[in-house]
Amino acid sequence: MDIKDRVVIVTGGGGGIGAETARLLGSRGAKVVVTDISESGEEVAEAIRLAGGDAAFLRADITVEEEAEALVARTLDRYGRLDGAFNNAGVEQAATPLHQLTGAQWDRAIRVDLTGVFYSLKYQITAMLESGTRGSIVNTASALGQVAVPNASEYVAAKHGVIGLTRAAAADYGQHGIRVNAVLPGIVETAMVARIAEEPTFSGVFDTLRQRHLLGRFAKPHEVGEAVAWLLSDSSSFVTGAAIPVDGGYLAV
Ligand SMILES: NC(=O)c1ccc[n+]([C@@H]2O[C@H](COP(=O)([O-])OP(=O)(O)OC[C@H]3O[C@@H](n4cnc5c(N)ncnc54)[C@H](O)[C@@H]3O)[C@@H](O)[C@H]2O)c1
Repeated sequence: MDIKDRVVIVTGGGGGIGAETARLLGSRGAKVVVTDISESGEEVAEAIRLAGGDAAFLRADITVEEEAEALVARTLDRYGRLDGAFNNAGVEQAATPLHQLTGAQWDRAIRVDLTGVFYSLKYQITAMLESGTRGSIVNTASALGQVAVPNASEYVAAKHGVIGLTRAAAADYGQHGIRVNAVLPGIVETAMVARIAEEPTFSGVFDTLRQRHLLGRFAKPHEVGEAVAWLLSDSSSFVTGAAIPVDGGYLAV
């Protein structure tokens, strides 16, 4: 599984799954562009460099089209090419039944979790087409891209959309050798999940959810990163348009 010297953008690389995946890619020799709306991405890039890897933090808000475009341009300025991307930035919201969801809550979820992936794909793929690079792109959907849970309609809809967008992009660019796949994590122990766990609505629910994962536990972020590293490498050369659960068996039952 060789990703040495591949130039890879990781969105949402300042925390959680993105940060651990960026570190893992960096430790395997990839040149990692860590990007996030938060400055915490600088610490992740610095940690990769301190461990002997090559990484740069380039701040961007992926919901702003110009910033998504500039991120790719700055990546090309710095590293001269783009081989892959992990479009992973996303947000959760307070648990709300659909009839109480505001338009603003709906818009925020769709803007970050779905439109941000669209803008990212648009400029990453443009760069790959212009250079003739047969790149690999991985989007973070969720197990909730295939099934629902109560009180998260905007998130469930956005993540279902990410899977559809992934398949559509794979269909558009397969002929150019550009592969686009999605990972579908179950519950992963990150700051996002810690925030959700604090909500009164979810008190007591986490034990039940843990049991729904056939392995009887939640994931560590690097376990998602391992699947992403495989998808970014040539070891997965015949895999595209796939929605791959990394969910401890959550979707199997
Ligand atoms: N943690 C889980 O259980 C879980 C499960 C399934 C899917 N996911 C998905 O995995 C992804 C990462 O989740 P996480 O748990 O690591 O969350 P996290 O909150 O720990 O990290 C998400 C990162 O995305 C960044 N971000 C948010 N909005 C941004 C924007 N507009 N532009 C750039 N960066 C932005 C945040 O600053 C943060 O660093 C998300 O897409 C999430 O929906 C998480």
